[in-house]
Amino acid sequence: MNEIYLIDTHSHINMVEKISLDEVIKNALSMGVKKIVVPASSAKDIDEVFELSQKYDNVYCYLGIHPEEAKEWDEGIMDIIRKYSASSKVVGIGEIGLDYYWDKSHVELQKEIFIKQIQLGNELNLPLNIHDREAHKDTFDILKEYNKNSTVIMHCFSGSPEFVLECIKEGWYIALGGVVTFKNAKKMKEVAKVVPLERLLLETDAPYLTPMPHRGEENQPAYVKFTAEEIAKIKEISFEELAKQTTQNAEKILLI
Ligand code: NI
Repeated sequence: MNEIYLIDTHSHINMVEKISLDEVIKNALSMGVKKIVVPASSAKDIDEVFELSQKYDNVYCYLGIHPEEAKEWDEGIMDIIRKYSASSKVVGIGEIGLDYYWDKSHVELQKEIFIKQIQLGNELNLPLNIHDREAHKDTFDILKEYNKNSTVIMHCFSGSPEFVLECIKEGWYIALGGVVTFKNAKKMKEVAKVVPLERLLLETDAPYLTPMPHRGEENQPAYVKFTAEEIAKIKEISFEELAKQTTQNAEKILLI
């Protein structure tokens, strides 16, 4: 039988503060987490996460500007991403999308740079790692209208079981993180139940959203194992089956 291991498909290891990067990687490997994908958020992150992907064999990156950083946008960022995308360690555009939770004063700007980055992903034929916080309808409508050929990954999915099925119908992938392990997260447990196994990805969104039993501590890729165990329980399948299929999904769409 093939070796069983996990992939953390969205992890800001450049923002982990309490332990060193070498420890982050070592802890991940000791828990069977063999590959880590690090998204960029800000313009400064783009260089930083790209360098990490060049330094560590098992680290990959998504490049893009997070909606909360929309004000930082300048067209030159697209050329930097184009240049870096020649590396096979750049596996997607992200994290990109819409965030209406913190700041609704830049909605039009958020939409504009979201669309530009979708088009860049299409041009480079790279998957899109999507951040959608309290912006489900607009995120869905924009992706449906503008995305032509990129695989869509809904990172840290936070919508309803009904919305997840609409995303599945579009052929998109759903990435779930630590929230699913929280006792009161009824909606997310329902989402985990209805997502078909062949569309599911695992992530931590470290250093945030730490799963049980480490909730309250700083998150790290190693902890994706707790999320995997909880989802296996919810889906009433073995941990091995869940690990194998989610890893296979990530390797297929990210070419890692
Ligand atoms: Ni994130």
